[in-house]
Amino acid sequence: MAGPVPNARSRRIEESATLAITARAAAMKRRGLDVVSLGAGEPDFPTPGPIAAAGIRAIEQGKTRYTAAAGLPELRTAGADWLRATFGLDHGPAEVMVCAGAKAALHMALDATVEPGDRVLILAPYWVSYPALVTMADGVPVVVPPVPERGFVHDADTIAAAARQHGARGLILNYPNNPSGAVPTRAQLQAIVDAARAHDLWLLSDEIYGSLLYDGAEHVSPATLPGGRERTMVVSGFTKSHTMTGWRTSFLAAPQAVIDACSRIQSQVLGNPCTISQEAMLEACRTPLPAEHAARMQAFGERRAFLLEALAGVPGLALEPPRGAFYALVDARELGRRRGLDDVAMAEQLLERHLLAVVPGSAFAIPGFLRLSYAVSMPELQQAVTRLRDFAEAR
Ligand SMILES: Cc1ncc(COP(=O)(O)O)c(C=O)c1O
Repeated sequence: MAGPVPNARSRRIEESATLAITARAAAMKRRGLDVVSLGAGEPDFPTPGPIAAAGIRAIEQGKTRYTAAAGLPELRTAGADWLRATFGLDHGPAEVMVCAGAKAALHMALDATVEPGDRVLILAPYWVSYPALVTMADGVPVVVPPVPERGFVHDADTIAAAARQHGARGLILNYPNNPSGAVPTRAQLQAIVDAARAHDLWLLSDEIYGSLLYDGAEHVSPATLPGGRERTMVVSGFTKSHTMTGWRTSFLAAPQAVIDACSRIQSQVLGNPCTISQEAMLEACRTPLPAEHAARMQAFGERRAFLLEALAGVPGLALEPPRGAFYALVDARELGRRRGLDDVAMAEQLLERHLLAVVPGSAFAIPGFLRLSYAVSMPELQQAVTRLRDFAEAR
């Protein structure tokens, strides 16, 4: 008798490149090698005390049972309030649901809206999971090439042309962007929303880095712009800002029909997001931690400033200031040309010969670049730059 065999769709799904490189670096560390890993997109700070304490309290108080599929009703209400206060979204509790992480929210949203064969535009450089998530929803990902010369913010006309050319139904946006740190101006984003309206595209806006901004950059959700609300599904939460990475929580805010559909799907595939984590998220919504946030932003800001200055002195590398998130997307095309290596080979040599883990730009559809996460301590970052310089200057 033949055993179960992975189907064609699952065979089209590749492993997340960032998780793969992080796992490889961790395995090398376990072998005793002194690897510095700038691979993972996970802050090095712990989950803030009051939020962790709320999780512990939930267990102690026996809040460990099933919840409604879309999440605790009080959390949906608190989430709607938090999204309004923080990002100016105008969604009621019935238009907000709780998901098990931003990744799961993206999956739910795509699963509930993509028809088989729908073309979905993904702007490069993109977060590694978008094409796989579209494929899993039986859609067809269409990658729009990157525009480093425009600070990685696509022109609305380019998006409109791609929508026409491919007959696209949807567009995934991610600002602040992973990996580039790009944040469009309000006017640039409005032009993209206008293009989406003109071509009847829905928008899936991944705003998981929405409160990690530098140099006065402003986060604007397309759902708050004229013509945006009715066509936008917003993914938000505390994963990156509050290091709730392992808690697996997020919000999806969207028109109620979509939320109802996602809730039905979630009721079948998950039941509900972890009850204990929902209690912790409730605390995060109700108790803003401005001092904690300011301290984090100061630390990220110092690391970012250090990288910008230090990399300017490394031959063959260039870095434009990222405006959000905690990644540096380094232009290594010149170095690659000099050394006769592509970005994958450079990342390989950096790891094997210099014990430095970075993610090759190819993983984000921007070959020739390298992504460095600066969500690591300053001493690690200093060591990383030394190793990068050794690599760049090696004969
Ligand atoms: C742009 C983006 N979206 C979503 C996620 C996933 O977030 P979560 O851990 O909440 O699923 C990540 C994590 O790296 C990300 O960078």
